[in-house]
Amino acid sequence: MATQSSQWNNNTAFLLAATGSAVGLGNIWGFPYKAAENGGGLFVLLYIFFVITLGFPVFMAEVFIGKKGKSNPVSSVESLAAKSNSSKKWGIVGYAGILASLIIAGYYAVIAGFVIDYGFISAQGVAEGTAKDIWANQQSTFFDMTFWTVLFIVGSCYVVANGIDAGIDKAMRFLLPMLFILVLAMVGYGAYQGDFNAGINYLFSWKADDIETTGQAAAIVQAAIGQAFFSLSIGMGTLMAFGSYMPSSQKVSKASGVVVTADTGVALLAGLAIFPLAFGLGLDPKEDAFGGSALVFETMPEAFAQLGVIGQVVGPLFFFLLAVAAFSSMISILEPSVAFLTQKFSMSRMKATGVILLVCISLSLVSIAGHNVWKDVSVGALDNPFEFMKYFADDFLLLLVGTGMSVFVGWRLQKVIDADTMGISSTTMMNLWVFILKWVSPIFLMTIWTLGNLQVLFEYDLLDKIINLF
Ligand code: PFF
Repeated sequence: MATQSSQWNNNTAFLLAATGSAVGLGNIWGFPYKAAENGGGLFVLLYIFFVITLGFPVFMAEVFIGKKGKSNPVSSVESLAAKSNSSKKWGIVGYAGILASLIIAGYYAVIAGFVIDYGFISAQGVAEGTAKDIWANQQSTFFDMTFWTVLFIVGSCYVVANGIDAGIDKAMRFLLPMLFILVLAMVGYGAYQGDFNAGINYLFSWKADDIETTGQAAAIVQAAIGQAFFSLSIGMGTLMAFGSYMPSSQKVSKASGVVVTADTGVALLAGLAIFPLAFGLGLDPKEDAFGGSALVFETMPEAFAQLGVIGQVVGPLFFFLLAVAAFSSMISILEPSVAFLTQKFSMSRMKATGVILLVCISLSLVSIAGHNVWKDVSVGALDNPFEFMKYFADDFLLLLVGTGMSVFVGWRLQKVIDADTMGISSTTMMNLWVFILKWVSPIFLMTIWTLGNLQVLFEYDLLDKIINLF
């Protein structure tokens, strides 16, 4: 059985690394556009609700597996399964997590590549009315995109290759404070220059008539829950890997609480950085390009263009913020598979990172091609390979792994769970946590997973059909 002895050399390393992982493109690129696509305030409300009721408990389950198993995601699950007389096949949860992390790495790096590229583009200045064409043009350049993407992958692999203390911890200590300062600066600028009230209103108030059909309601719930899990970095082995390096004095519940709060806070702040600015310039989420990548790569550059010379400073700052957030997350996406290779196959960290580097570059090429040469090559019901990778990892695998971990900890590890590791002294709280893992989260996640997949893969709106029966 592969075990490991690595441990963070201080008590804040887990907090920094897990926060650096959680706060990423998902918060600053993903959260605002998903809010815009799903009716604003209602989505935000659901998102916060799911973070508290499902995200936080499953987050703790994942960290617990790592802390108790003290190894890479696969070996941790396998050794805990052995301890609890369960089948070794539970290891598949760890494998699925690693698979998800690699696929995410493949498309995440491409978006990060765009971000770096846009840092330079916005510094040079974008003429008003041209942002749309620039965005279309950027996506058509296979070689440019490859250059920025590979640069980003190599940079993050460099940090991971240096190990958990000299690489990951050291980088996070530098990146995270910078990230928080940049977010606050952007919010401050949005408040000063934009329409802050309109931004707040959009994010925090909702009207029932925002939902037009029942099918839409299911889609909003699915989007909110998927976003909550993705943003918290649940289901990809990252939290297991980082949890396995936790010193024994650190408690799972408290550490998890800090990370979950910081992540949610930054998502809301990102909304407050983006929407006031967009509203202040007269852009409208219902009419302008607020959906998908367009919000960050089309609407924001257009907003910066309208700001003139100031936009040439604020624009690069915004993209720098995104790049920092993406970089700290990418490091964490790589860690589970690197830990897996070093422990299962006794590879040196350098060699393991080299292998993962090649895997990530290969996957990212597929994802890049999905923007241009393979733009119209549909995969199943998904438009192109990029959309497929995003869907398969974020919506398909992630909820499956989340459910798997929830069931594993709730049903199989009851005898292994201890109040001391968790840092939960109240029996009521402990019982509540286990109850959520046993019943609430598996039933809820699998219902949403089934409804969502039926809708996306087979265009079958089961919820609508059920409601129409009555
Ligand atoms: N949580 C990150 C974000 O919001 O951008 C993305 C992420 C990081 C996903 C690490 C998965 C992961 F393992």
